[in-house]
Amino acid sequence: MRIAERADAALGRLDRSALKFFLLWLRKPVGLGAALPSGGPLARAMAREIDTATPGAVVELGGGTGVITQALLDAGIAPEDLIVIEREPELFTILRKRFPQLAVIKADARDLAGVLRAHGITRVKAVASGLPLLNIPDPICQQIVAQAFAAMGSDGIYLQYTYGPTSPLPLRLQKPLGLEGKRVSWVPMNLPPASVWRYRKRALDT
Ligand SMILES: C[S@@+](CC[C@H](N)C(=O)[O-])C[C@H]1O[C@@H](n2cnc3c(N)ncnc32)[C@H](O)[C@@H]1O
Repeated sequence: MRIAERADAALGRLDRSALKFFLLWLRKPVGLGAALPSGGPLARAMAREIDTATPGAVVELGGGTGVITQALLDAGIAPEDLIVIEREPELFTILRKRFPQLAVIKADARDLAGVLRAHGITRVKAVASGLPLLNIPDPICQQIVAQAFAAMGSDGIYLQYTYGPTSPLPLRLQKPLGLEGKRVSWVPMNLPPASVWRYRKRALDT
């Protein structure tokens, strides 16, 4: 039996896009960082951290198959305010088909500033990241998060989920960027269980 058929049988209850995600993970485990897309409860825990009343765009990094994208829309983020960045061509294609109303961009999150410039996006209020931060080398991680905060005002938030017990953005990276992090949700109903962390600019001492 071919690997695709075996995986299909094993994952019979999951939809086709989750199967494609799983097959891609078999080939690129480090780049994907998870064997399966996030579950609905985790996606909703990310989305509820974003204040829909505040003006500004929301950028999703590492959209995958669009589970968090859908939760952001369901939470009331206007389609014209949502930008989704995904590096993997196969996942980009899934996102493009699933969300024709959104700006879905095939790009590396390392090029965030350039992507926002190219799309004329000047005001970002939140970044929702599904990137496998723990698999990304420190300098690249710092580059991505620094660009995210450069695009946001002082009240901008960077949301990141993790399967680990500690902050997915280590203190050694938070400090030089002037950030503080807080675990805002614990989602035991995800596979595997996950936490959502929220990072903000530290208030300046006066
Ligand atoms: C753990 S998966 C999360 C997918 C989806 N957000 C979810 O929660 O189900 C990580 C996603 O980030 C994407 N990714 C990893 N590194 C990236 C990068 N440097 N730029 C853009 N996307 C990236 C992967 O292709 C994958 O879709």
